[in-house]
Amino acid sequence: SKLQQIAIDGPAGAGKSTIARLLARQLGYLYVDTGAMYRAVTLKVLKQGLDPGDEKEIADMLTETEVDLIPATEGLRVILDGEDVSDAIRTPQVSQAVSQVARIPAVREKLTIWQRALGEKWPVVMDGRDIGTVVLPEAEHKFFLTASLEERARRRYLELKSKGYTQSFESLLEEMALRDKMDSGREIAPLKPAEDAQIIDTTGMTIEEVVNELLKRLGGNT
Ligand code: C5P
Repeated sequence: SKLQQIAIDGPAGAGKSTIARLLARQLGYLYVDTGAMYRAVTLKVLKQGLDPGDEKEIADMLTETEVDLIPATEGLRVILDGEDVSDAIRTPQVSQAVSQVARIPAVREKLTIWQRALGEKWPVVMDGRDIGTVVLPEAEHKFFLTASLEERARRRYLELKSKGYTQSFESLLEEMALRDKMDSGREIAPLKPAEDAQIIDTTGMTIEEVVNELLKRLGGNT
């Protein structure tokens, strides 16, 4: 039977993770947060004191790196080499370095293989930057979620604040704009909608409204 794959891509802070997680729960599919994988690799790079631009060192590090995503009641737990790093991967330090690490071909190659394996084994809702274009090009349903930069920065600001992090709105906005620019401009698997993706601008929509919109567009089609 046909694989059940739903790809959700878009820029930082478009609400992809929350929406993908809720959608997966509704459908009974596995939720795969590919950004969490790039963040986990980046956390290890920083912990080991490596330069996030050093391709050779990072490629070597990867041969001894394992990242697992474990479904839990409160979303996904992210396990790096046996250690739960679900919170540690969300710090501003990781956010600021991740796009540089995500540009490295060896990193993308390894994570793409893991992500495809999950999509071939389970019905998935997978979110990221290159899911519809590169990781799951055959996915039956592809969505590209966007929102204005201001709204995305505001959402991320409130989310971080609720978790006890303090980063100014202005610096968050700047960081997200830079990250989007790097993600869209890179050579391998840049951030862009797949040709057959449905683009949804979520500016002014609540999480519930977006989830309902996606469910409506999926129709009885899952
Ligand atoms: O989704 P999230 O904002 O957590 O992703 C963090 C970073 O990981 C992105 O800014 C991007 O550099 C990288 N990423 C990627 N490809 C994906 C998912 C994330 O390059 N499929």
